[in-house]
Amino acid sequence: MLENHQLAFQKNHIKNLNTKEKKLETTLILIKPDGVQRSLSGEILQRLERSGLKISGLKLLHVDEPLAKKHYAEHDGKPFFKDLVEYICSAPIIALALSGPNAVQKSRSLIGKTNPLESEPGTIRGDLGLEISRNLIHGSASIEDAKRELNI
Ligand code: RTP
Ligand code: MG
Repeated sequence: MLENHQLAFQKNHIKNLNTKEKKLETTLILIKPDGVQRSLSGEILQRLERSGLKISGLKLLHVDEPLAKKHYAEHDGKPFFKDLVEYICSAPIIALALSGPNAVQKSRSLIGKTNPLESEPGTIRGDLGLEISRNLIHGSASIEDAKRELNI
């Protein structure tokens, strides 16, 4: 009986998540080397999951230079590009696919502005970060970016 009850609960839970909001999306999130090294992965995952978004894929990986350059191709040629690529390749990261209604915009608002100094308290970067070059987490900036980045 308890099992049936739990099943019914789970079905309702999923149904409620998928009601009026039709814009179901998947975005790419990276917990960057500083996030993993500072043991903030659990805290960051909890903040993302608590919003209602669902983890639909997850892995730990050590990014190499070609992959980092491909991921951040839009910044090629900018003054910070070399440091950014070196930093992303410096230690393992956690990559996850995060899915749900308006997942791209929602995760960007949970993450906060690029510079932790300008990020609102309550956001991941605003609460946990200090420097733009060590801002803990990446989230795709648009639906098109998410599709491209998830397929790299
Ligand atoms: P991300 O792609 O990592 O989620 O960050 P974002 O969208 O908030 O910011 P973006 O403009 O895409 O920049 C990518 C990463 O480059 C570093 N950055 N440094 N002026 C600077 O020194 C500068 N600007 C950007 C940041 O680490 C940023 O996350
Ligand atoms: Mg970006």
